[in-house]
Amino acid sequence: MTGRQGTIGDVFSAGAQEFHQWSPALWDPVGEATAAAAGPAPGESVLDACCGAGASALPAARAVGPRGRVDAVDLAGALLEIGERRAADQGLANIRFHRHEVTSWPRSGYDVVQCALGVFFFPDMDRDTTALTRLLRPGGRLVVTVWERGALGGWWAAFRAAVETERTWPDAPQARQLARVDTADSLAAWLAHLGGTGPRVARHRFDTPLTPGTAWDLAVGSGTRGLLTGLSPAAVERVRAEFTARLAAADVTDLDARVLTGMARFSV
Ligand SMILES: C[S@@+](CC[C@H](N)C(=O)[O-])C[C@H]1O[C@@H](n2cnc3c(N)ncnc32)[C@H](O)[C@@H]1O
Repeated sequence: MTGRQGTIGDVFSAGAQEFHQWSPALWDPVGEATAAAAGPAPGESVLDACCGAGASALPAARAVGPRGRVDAVDLAGALLEIGERRAADQGLANIRFHRHEVTSWPRSGYDVVQCALGVFFFPDMDRDTTALTRLLRPGGRLVVTVWERGALGGWWAAFRAAVETERTWPDAPQARQLARVDTADSLAAWLAHLGGTGPRVARHRFDTPLTPGTAWDLAVGSGTRGLLTGLSPAAVERVRAEFTARLAAADVTDLDARVLTGMARFSV
């Protein structure tokens, strides 16, 4: 799925520990906002697509309660294991984690399908998100969370410049797909284009301080890890040093964590 960089699930699995370091400050608050956008009611069924370590799946499971059900689906086995542990720690018996390509998930009839920071990773965002809408019952809600335009700016610029000292920046279909839905208007228009009714988009901001260590954890604990695949350990170390120097030179001390949650109903 990411060509020479391996599958997206392999990339996220390899960086699972660093990913999870960011759960409290980033993934969990974004996940809470995602689950809240759908407003899951007790007894409802939820499919959490691209669930990672359960950032949005766990709050959904708490909201739907013992009569409800959450299927949490991802390709990254190491993140799913963390999600399972967290569900057990929280005493949640109504959630199941599944290692599966979510765009070919076989069950349907969900009240809610939610996908936090995932749709732009799909090979074909429109086709594959449409496949997710078909898993809803008539009138069910789709929630999609994406980075807002310009989010992660200083961190991203420093990482890109550091990687470019070692290799050419590859063509990034994910960035092109994200750029189509990264404003409130374009996300609402896209949900309507997919056949959604009454699209509603909300903006959220979860800025958080960065240190050189946490900034690097995010680089190797998210999709950007794939950009280091194939570099020698010495080259990765040079990228890390360059990245740290560039963050300091540009005085990047916070992660600009702005996201959009979009929700619409589908009757397919
Ligand atoms: C940035 S992470 C977000 C994880 C989680 N939703 C969160 O907000 O913490 C993106 C996730 O999407 C998963 N993913 C991407 N494409 C996928 C696909 N086609 N099927 C299943 N999972 C996928 C990756 O494995 C990764 O865990």
